[in-house]
Amino acid sequence: MRVIGLETSCDETGVAFYDTERGLLAHALYSQVSLHEDYGGVVPELASRDHVRKTLPLLKQVLSEAGLNRADIDGVAYTAGPGLIGALLVGAAIGRSLAWALGVPAVGVHHMEGHLLAPMLEKNPPAFPFVALLVSGGHTQLMRVDGVGRYTLLGDTLDDAAGEAFDKTAKLLGLGYPGGPALARLAERGDPARFHFPRPMTNRPGLEFSFSGLKTFALTTWQASAGDEQARADIARAFEDAVVDTLAIKCRRALEQTGLVRLVVAGGVSANVGLRTRLQEEAARAGATVYYPRLEFCTDNGAMIAYAGAQRLRAGQAEPLAFTAWPRWPLTELTPLPA
Ligand code: KG4
Ligand code: ZN
Repeated sequence: MRVIGLETSCDETGVAFYDTERGLLAHALYSQVSLHEDYGGVVPELASRDHVRKTLPLLKQVLSEAGLNRADIDGVAYTAGPGLIGALLVGAAIGRSLAWALGVPAVGVHHMEGHLLAPMLEKNPPAFPFVALLVSGGHTQLMRVDGVGRYTLLGDTLDDAAGEAFDKTAKLLGLGYPGGPALARLAERGDPARFHFPRPMTNRPGLEFSFSGLKTFALTTWQASAGDEQARADIARAFEDAVVDTLAIKCRRALEQTGLVRLVVAGGVSANVGLRTRLQEEAARAGATVYYPRLEFCTDNGAMIAYAGAQRLRAGQAEPLAFTAWPRWPLTELTPLPA
């Protein structure tokens, strides 16, 4: 079964073509970074309009790269939430219309299910069950994953998501949008011994996270400093180390608590090199294996949506013509697929 995946939940337009027999056939991504840069963050209405402009050209590109045409599409998957409602509706409307015109089924995919299943596109995919650490701009969650749609929430953030904390801290340090990758780059030049930031919620039991205090800690440290370049880099390093350490401690705890030996790390923050290295070491010590998507599939992309949608369409899931999108949507409410 060959499935087109459309991702339009935020500031990237992603399109991919996935074949359940042959794997990923082609994928394309358009980032809106230059569009939102001047505003210091994503402007929802501009994002929606740009998805309108880019989705069909990317679809054509992907079909031509795969050496196939529209008649070869057996199903359509689009991100139905969570995300920016206008942006989501663009993908949903295009996806539904395409499926209707071709007479094929369509399915709305949960954006975080896409992230969570992205490592399945790699050569050595993890087997179920596993623990998943989902770290993106909107989510920081630990999940027990027993199959597609079989998710048990183990821990969540009480305030900011990890990516959001990266973005907000980057902003207060005067780094532009998108902040996470900029802060990570700056942290490479920082002295890890100069400042020590707390590891929130690690000295009590449980798998909950809280990152908003780290941002305040960064602000007060920045204000007390001379405001020079080295202080900026040292604070970036201390902040990154604190987030990475906190995530690693909770991952180790989740593996111990569940007795599972596989850890999947996905979502935009899983592109962070410090986090990848640290979790690799942590997992090795615990006798566990860690699985990541390739770097380009850590952040938003169409391939993960095509993959997740293909699993659901292949299992017979498809929805009626009327469509909707959900700006908020708990992952634990999805339909479980038979094992
Ligand atoms: O998954 P994603 O592309 O979009 C959402 O679903 O939110 O994640 C974006 C988030 C942003 O907060 C961004 O700052 C963060 O991932 N991010 C990073 C890195 N690359 C992206 N954070 C830290 N280090 C990175 N290298
Ligand atoms: Zn995402």
